[in-house]
Amino acid sequence: MSWHPHLWHPTTQVATSPIPLQVARARGCLLELQDGRELIDAISSWWVTLHGHAEPGIAAAIARQAQELEQVIFANFSHAPAEQLATRLAALTGLERLFFSDNGSTAVEVALKIAWQWWRNQGIERNRLIAFEGAYHGDTFGAMALGDRSIFSAPYDDLLFDVARISWPHSHWGDQSVEVREAQALLQLEQALAVPTAAVILEPLIQGASGMLMVRPSFLRAVQERVQAGGALLIADEVMTGFGRTGSLFASQRSALQPDLMALSKGLTGGFLPMGATMASERLYQGFISQEPQQTFFHGHSFTANPLGCAAALASLDLLQQNPERYQQFESRHTPLLEELAELNAVKRIRCRGTVAAFELDAGSTGYLNPIGKQLQQHCIQQGVYIRPLGNVVYLLPPLCISDGQLQQSYSAIASGIQALTD
Ligand SMILES: Cc1ncc(COP(=O)(O)O)c(C=O)c1O
Repeated sequence: MSWHPHLWHPTTQVATSPIPLQVARARGCLLELQDGRELIDAISSWWVTLHGHAEPGIAAAIARQAQELEQVIFANFSHAPAEQLATRLAALTGLERLFFSDNGSTAVEVALKIAWQWWRNQGIERNRLIAFEGAYHGDTFGAMALGDRSIFSAPYDDLLFDVARISWPHSHWGDQSVEVREAQALLQLEQALAVPTAAVILEPLIQGASGMLMVRPSFLRAVQERVQAGGALLIADEVMTGFGRTGSLFASQRSALQPDLMALSKGLTGGFLPMGATMASERLYQGFISQEPQQTFFHGHSFTANPLGCAAALASLDLLQQNPERYQQFESRHTPLLEELAELNAVKRIRCRGTVAAFELDAGSTGYLNPIGKQLQQHCIQQGVYIRPLGNVVYLLPPLCISDGQLQQSYSAIASGIQALTD
């Protein structure tokens, strides 16, 4: 086996990474490899596979749609799947307008551009953007600029615009210092908002890529109060947290947030097709309606509102709404297994929200470059479980269909790996 001569894999250093595993097919929670091995996909393939791989209802909806209308230019045309999806997401998010794009990064770019231009369309100068330490909003330039500077952004830092950065008072089981850190963050936010601010962006409840860093709903409500008092727009980046991941349909709901803009992707199509959606309030939409051509939102992608993606998203929403207990009760499945893991000396700072469980390994340095994550990954693959730790942060974020036995197997593989690596 060797690296393919014509492919370039994402976020992969070829010099130090193992050759990618060849996947033949996937069903439910299982990735079936070309060599006959099976792996439990305990992280939903970069957090997208919501119900399970090859979920039959979604597969059938895509197949049906492909025979009716596979794609049409979305300027000058509209179609039923897009209209139905917009209507349903508007009712579920409380944000009346849906703007389509292709992935999570573009959903964030669109939110940012709408927020920025909305103020300009009104002739109001608000030039500050506020985001949080540790934030990750995607790999395109606007999304990168909103995200915290990191090893991912380093080569491009000179090209990224400045944002004011507020600390993110994340917490974990048994945390004693969270109130103090929340108060400090809120003070920083108040000070930052003293400068006229266009928008504040956050990942509600869980910052994903920076290490599954979870804040309390009450902190987010306090943030919202200050954002509203400062007259700025609030953007919720629910690319990872949306569609049940945190135990309610959207993390914003669990925190009683009513953002002005919401970025969605990943679970939107059940993880079948790349699609982004930016939900915006009617107030923002109306701010672009004008006889002046320059007030138009001049943004569009070739595949805007792809009907196959819309059909997948509608089928996925059906499944979520038919079986809400699958995401609402997931946290109670993680909890006893995390309690067992907590017995291991190396396991620190456990946290869990909905389907997302995470902890840190006390193994030298913290951060993405700590090698323990890759070592643990290799151990787990040998045990039939696929995880992808973020440095010393280990997390599980499985598809909703995972059985109790598969979940237990995932935790057991992790526990045996920790014992082998930290003894
Ligand atoms: C919170 C958040 N926003 C945006 C993105 C970017 O999404 P995509 O990888 O689909 O561009 C991600 C991806 O992990 C994310 O977690």
